[in-house]
This record gives sequence, structure tokens and C-alpha cells, in this order.
Amino acid sequence: LTHLLTIEGLPRDIVTHILDTAESFVPLAERDVKKLPLLRGKSVFNLFFENSTRTRTTFEIAAKRLSADVYNLNINASSTSKGESLLDTINNLSAMQADMFVVRHASSGAPHLIAQHVAPHLHVINAGDGRHAHPTQGLLDMYTIRHYKKEFHNLRVAIVGDILHSRVARSDIHALSTLGVPEIRAIGPLTLLPAGMEQMGVKVYTDMEEGLRGVDVIIMLRLQNERMRGALLPSAQEYFKHYGLTQEKLALAAPDAIVMHPGPMNRGVEIESAVADGKQAVILNQVTFGIAVRMAVMSIVGGA
Ligand code: CP
Repeated sequence: LTHLLTIEGLPRDIVTHILDTAESFVPLAERDVKKLPLLRGKSVFNLFFENSTRTRTTFEIAAKRLSADVYNLNINASSTSKGESLLDTINNLSAMQADMFVVRHASSGAPHLIAQHVAPHLHVINAGDGRHAHPTQGLLDMYTIRHYKKEFHNLRVAIVGDILHSRVARSDIHALSTLGVPEIRAIGPLTLLPAGMEQMGVKVYTDMEEGLRGVDVIIMLRLQNERMRGALLPSAQEYFKHYGLTQEKLALAAPDAIVMHPGPMNRGVEIESAVADGKQAVILNQVTFGIAVRMAVMSIVGGA
């Protein structure tokens, strides 16, 4: 695996290998123990052209735990504001002996463009591109599901909210299908559900109560207002009434269902605090697992 750009098309054995490798890193990711030398002498550049709290920070922690040298480009203070193109920026960073680029960009396809352009010894990891893909989030979501549910072949998984604009939903759907989850449900208003879900093997529900019945895993998504140019947005109160996850609605799922959210959460819009902070929520565990999963991805992509 030279780059990680998307989960779509990634063979099941590679996905499983990443999850297994991450599992071997969990003690290291959870506690401050000795670093691994797997990326010693390598330079990892974090290029976040869009804001991030979880992804950028956990990539940095993961790279440091693999002994890499990490450089976080401050995009707002960089020469992109003077009109420098994305590829010229990449060329210049490559000239600084970069080994790996971790890229988040508002434009779908930006990490693919970089991967096509860079020298063969360079590696590109997609940290979220537009509404297209967020592969490491998809992988850490699969890690979380496997951690709590052990198997994939007997699960009903519901993804709820703004699926149309969500790169996380797309990566999760590809990963869940690859790992053999028999029932994937997409729940949301018709205006926020992309066409072609059924062709991807996903059951579509506009009624949240109906869609949540008996599910084992609930993945909540926020409204991606920044990607809804010109769209008629529902009010937060109206949205919460129909698609907010409350304790009452959660009770329709399996009694041991887990509640996930990639973050950032908008409390009182897609999820109420009693659920977000409740016993079934594994939202902060997802963040912790993200360190191990990103260590696994960087070590495998980096050929360590
Ligand atoms: N889940 C996720 O991508 O969060 P950030 O935007 O904070 O990185």
C-alpha cells in the first residue's frame, strides 16, 4: 500500500491487516510507553487545508509514537494565501525531504492529485477530502465496532443524518460492506440522502424511529452546513425533533447498541447530551482508537 486515499476497493485482507496492526499498537497508543522506531528518520508533513481537532492531532501523536519527525504546516500563514498552487506547495515541501504527506482538503480528489504528482518514494494519506472520503475515520470506526461487537457478519448498523455531504458516511459504508456487515441503514431526510444508496446495498429510511429499530451500532453525523451552499437548511430545532438522537429513540435500538459519532458534535442538533455522555456512547473511545489506527496506517503505508 503506497498511499491511503480511499477505502473503496481496498481488499478485505488489507482492511483486516490494518485493524490487526492497530490492535497491536493499542497499549502504546493508550499509555505513554516507549516509542516504536518504525518511522525513525522519516519526515511526516501534516497539511490541513481544512480545520481539524481530532484527525490532525491524532496523526501527529501517531507519527511521533512511530518516531517520525512531524511538521504541521500552518496553512493560514503559508504562501497558499499568496496564490501558490497546491502542487507548487507540494513540490516545495518535497524539496525539504518529505517522506509522507497527510492531507485534508475541502476539494474532493485533492489527495489523489497529490499522489499522482509526487515522486514514487513519497506517501500520501487522505485525512478527509471534500465530501468524498475520510479513510482513516472509516478504519477507526471499524476498529471501534470490532472492539465492542467482535464480529461484523451479524450486525445491523445505522448511519444517521447528513449522509449527502459526509465523507465519513461514504468511507464507513465502503468499509462495512467490505467487512461483510449484512445490514447497513441510512437514516435522514430525503434532501440529505444521496442517490444510489440502494445500489450500494444500503437500506434507506426517512423515519428515524423505524430505521433505528433493533440496530447494533448507531453512527450519528452532524449537519455539514459548510458544504450546503444555497441549500434550504432545516432549523436546528426542527432537525433535532426528527433526526436528533434522544434516549427515547435510542431505546428502539438493541439494548447493547453502541452510539458513535466522528465529531465534532453539535449537541442539541443531531444528538442530546444525555446520549452523547451516556453509557452506550463510545465517542471518545473512537478518538483514542484513532491514534492506534493512524499508527497502523502510517507504518503500513510507510513500509515499516
Ligand atoms: N472526525 C474528524 O474528522 O474530526 P476533525 O474534523 O476534528 O478532525
